[in-house]
This record gives sequence, structure tokens and C-alpha cells, in this order.
Amino acid sequence: KILDACTLTIFGVGGNLSQRKLIPALFRLEMAMRLPEQLVILGCDIAVHDHDAWIGFVAGILHGIYQKDIDEAALQRFCRRWHYLAIPPGDDAAYGRLAELLQGGGFPPNMVYYMAVRPADYPAIVDKLGNAGLLRQNGGWRRVVIEKPFGYDLLSAQTLQSSLYKHLDEPQIYRIDHYLGKGTVQNVMVFRFANLLLEPLWNHHYIDHVQITHSEIHGIENRADYYEGAGALRDMIQSHLLQLLTLVAMEPPVSLSAEHLRDEKVKVLKSIRPITQNSVHAHAFRGQYSDGIVEGKSVPGYLEEKGVAPESVTETYAALKLFIDNWRWAGVPFYLRTGKRLAENSSAICIRFKNPPQDLLHRNNHQGHSQPNWIMLGIQPNDCLKVELQVKVPGLDLLTRTLSLDATYHKDNDDDFDAYASLLLDVMQGDHSLFLRMDEVEAAWRVVDPVLKVWAMERDFINTYPAGSWGPRGTYRLFDRDDQFWRHSLNPDGADLQ
Ligand code: BG6
Repeated sequence: KILDACTLTIFGVGGNLSQRKLIPALFRLEMAMRLPEQLVILGCDIAVHDHDAWIGFVAGILHGIYQKDIDEAALQRFCRRWHYLAIPPGDDAAYGRLAELLQGGGFPPNMVYYMAVRPADYPAIVDKLGNAGLLRQNGGWRRVVIEKPFGYDLLSAQTLQSSLYKHLDEPQIYRIDHYLGKGTVQNVMVFRFANLLLEPLWNHHYIDHVQITHSEIHGIENRADYYEGAGALRDMIQSHLLQLLTLVAMEPPVSLSAEHLRDEKVKVLKSIRPITQNSVHAHAFRGQYSDGIVEGKSVPGYLEEKGVAPESVTETYAALKLFIDNWRWAGVPFYLRTGKRLAENSSAICIRFKNPPQDLLHRNNHQGHSQPNWIMLGIQPNDCLKVELQVKVPGLDLLTRTLSLDATYHKDNDDDFDAYASLLLDVMQGDHSLFLRMDEVEAAWRVVDPVLKVWAMERDFINTYPAGSWGPRGTYRLFDRDDQFWRHSLNPDGADLQ
């Protein structure tokens, strides 16, 4: 598909998100010749750089990733696309200069503005762009990409939305959740809706519960500034993990068009049984890492991290138990958990099936009790699909054991496009399917808001867990039965490591 010529302006281009994700993703598209031929990129940030220094900075990031294997021709093409404009804090005249630059010829008239800045700065930047006439769709389209978190809670999300609506219409807003750009996440839909085999089983008659996990071995790195005010529930669950839940649980959409898809996702979020203040303890668990050993090295606890308040009760681990009160999912718990400084980097959806109605073979299992079937979709580090079944152990005796069918369809992640690459292309193509609609964002805040409120009141109570572990043991209280456990590993023999 030939893409429109366009100008991509990135605010906060010198920051963490841009260096780690946006610049590498754009370069990956450049190498694959997937960028619009006439794409011009304008980086804006507070620091003053001349053009050459900025290009040197971009090239430095890419050399750091690709080392000597860098595609020099692509790098040269890529560097030719870039311009840089300093917008020092408080310098409102800078937006006049930005308008002169963008409207002075040389920049394609279709514009994407990417907010890779602190969330608190979104409204002011959009306001200044609007006042400078840079959001008026004369002679070309204008699109604005807003990074998560969209707001701090329901009310602040609605306030942010009203400030955007002063200058923008809904089709111009792209609320990004980069998890939706990950290949395996999209594969949840393919897996469910391109295979008839599973659909009859995909409901409360056969599924015991669902676990959605995102665990990371690293800590908060240099993001205390943001993380202290966010915490794990806002940072990962309100956005990424609830999005995964919607894809696992939604009904087949009328079509894959953006509106049909989002209609179904929002229905799931609206069907989640509200957690009340009284039920927070039964449905939510939080923890904070203390010091420990990660990959053989001692690491400090959260309270010792740079920029963290000594008395901080920000959670670095959060787990929720949710119920979707609809026809398909009545009574099936969905467990969502995430944490920093856990034992492994891993994201996965694990679906546990019920036990057979009559347990004829439980005595024959070498573990002494029957084992349920699991379907597991690994999102990272490897894209994988595993199904655990019971089989007979070869030999004279009727013994059973768990066998994992590994239907991994794609192992080598090296050559993958990052989630940001596919989402950046979607913005340039005007495809909203993998971006959040405002009603989805609101419904997701409604799910977590009561928990955030109770946690904010109970400021003196936080569980700790050693860095490098699988989180606080107390989270097991979220399970209904003794035979339920967190699925840490996607291999049968490592199922319950804690
Ligand atoms: C971001 C969170 O949205 O997602 C980070 O702010 C988290 O805290 C990251 O580490 C995880 O995404 P990925 O794609 O790096 O696994």
C-alpha cells in the first residue's frame, strides 16, 4: 500500500520512550522500506541541538543496537528525514516558530503529532498546537498520538479528554497501547476466530480460570519520576493486561473494522463485575520489592531506588481477580498479575480447563492426582502456543503424565518488527483498530478505580517480596481452591515453582 506523504513530529524526542522504542521502530521500518517515501520526521525537545548533533545522537542510538551490522544505506536514508527543533520550557513563541517551520514548505501537509512526553504535558501541548493553527485540517490530515496512561483515574481521564476535544475530533486521536501491536496479542484473535476447534470450549462450561501475567526482572530503571505516581496497577493492568483480557473474552466481532472490534472489547470491560470497597481485599493484592538477587547480582529494594520517597507505598506488584458477568464467562475468574523485579521476563495468557466430569484415571497419574488441560499463549520473550494434554506413559502399566504440545509457530524474534513499528504505520494509514476508544479507556478506569482508592487510603499497608522472586506469597489468597496456583512456567514440569 502506498502511504500518504506525511510529517511526523515527536514531542519529547530525546526521552526514554523515543530512544528505546520510537527511533528504533522507525529505523526498523526504514530498513524494510515500509516508511512512506515522503516521510519527514521532526524531533522536538527542550534541549538545544544543532542539526548535526541531533543526527549524531540518532545514529548513536542505532549504532548501539546494530553495532557493525548496521544497514548503512538505510541509516543514511533515515538521517536525511530528520529535523530538530528545540522548545525550551516556558518559551511559548516556540510554537509560532514550529508553525512557521511546518507551514513554510518542505514539510508534507499531513501531520502526525506524537506525545512522547510526561502525561501531565499532553493538554498544554495540544492547546498550543491548536492555538498555533497546527491542528486545523486544511490541506491535509492532522492526527495526534497520546501515550498511556490516559489520565490518572476516571475523572482525570475525562478531564484530559475534554481538553483534547477543544481542538480535536475523535477520529484524529490515537490512544496508543503498544501491547496491541505485539504479534502474539493479535494472534489471540486469529487463534480464537480462525479455528473452529476451540470455540465450543471457550466458555464457563469448560474453562476453570484464566491467568494473564506480565513479569519483568528489571526494576523501575530511571523512571521513579513517573512510576512513583503510577504504580503497577495503573502502569500495566489498567492498560495492557485489561486489553489482553478483552481479546481473550470478547465475542466474535461483526468484522475486523476498528469500530466493530472496539464495540466488542468495550462490552467485555463493561461486563466486569465492579470491585466494591469492601471486596478489594478479596480481589486485589499489591506488593513492593525489597532487595534481593537478580541474575546473580544483588539489587536494591524499591525504597532505595533513585528518586523514590523513603516511605513510598507505590506498588511494584499487583494482582487482580476479576469476574466477567456475562453469558459466556459467568463464574470464571480472570487473574491478572504484573510485577517488576520478578524472577523472569515473561508475558503469557494461561487458560486452565476444568477437570473431566469423572476422574477415572487420577490414581494412574504419576503425580498422584489428576492434571487439568491448559492452553498457553506466550507473548514474550517467545511467541508460542502450548497445549497440555494427558497421555499414557509407554510401558506395561496404565500410567498417565502431562504432555505439552508445542505449537510454536514463530521462534526467532530477532527479525521482528517491534509493536511500535506496526502501530506507527497504523497511524500513518489512519487505522484505529489497535488504538483505544474513549469508552474503553473509561471502562478500564472504572475497573481499577475502587482498588486505587482503597490502596490510597490504606497507605501504611504494603506487602514486600524479595527482588528476583515470583512476588509475595500472600497473592495465593486470591485463588478459590487449593489446587489452583500461579502458572510461572509454560513447561509442564515447572508449573508451580513457588
Ligand atoms: C510500559 C510500562 O507501558 O510497558 C513499563 O510503562 C513496562 O513499565 C512496559 O516495562 C512493558 O512493555 P514491553 O513491551 O517492554 O514488555
